[in-house]
Amino acid sequence: MVFAPKVLACAAAVLAIAAVAFHANAEDSETSATTTTQTGINPFEGKPDAIEKGKSIYSNTCLFCHGANGMGARAPNLVKGMFRPNGGADDEIIFGVILGGRPGTIMGSFEGTLTTDEIWEVMAYLRAEARTQALQKGKKKRIPNP
Ligand code: HEC
Repeated sequence: MVFAPKVLACAAAVLAIAAVAFHANAEDSETSATTTTQTGINPFEGKPDAIEKGKSIYSNTCLFCHGANGMGARAPNLVKGMFRPNGGADDEIIFGVILGGRPGTIMGSFEGTLTTDEIWEVMAYLRAEARTQALQKGKKKRIPNP
């Protein structure tokens, strides 16, 4: 019975260490979005839930200037040309424009208004929209003559 308290104390110490380790892991996964931002890779690309969320963020925040379905209005089209699949517009650069805005134009900075995740979600939506519109256009072109 002399050893029992020691064994308990030891077990408690092991548990405490495990808890700290677990907590550290949880924190690592929370910062992963920021890490992905730095690598310029959209963590939400092609993910249906994020695309849906991005669509509603777009409608509330960007549509007023960039038009329905990203098709342009008082601000440029965001789903054609370089924004097409393989169109060359780089995710990291687009992210930078949304985060920082275009100084000297009405395209303002969304830093502090949208989280980094929300910016990626809007971009996932715009990429999906560009893909859909490119496919639709392709189909129209391929209609054979009677
Ligand atoms: C108040 C109007 C306005 C709003 C709201 C707005 N934009 Fe813009 N945006 C513009 C204008 C105008 C430009 C073109 C700036 C220029 O001349 O370079 C632009 C440019 C951009 C560009 C670069 C386009 C290019 O051809 O280089 C991206 C990407 C963009 N906006 C995304 C967004 C997103 C995403 C949102 C919503 C979160 C948004 N914008 C909200 C007006 C707006």
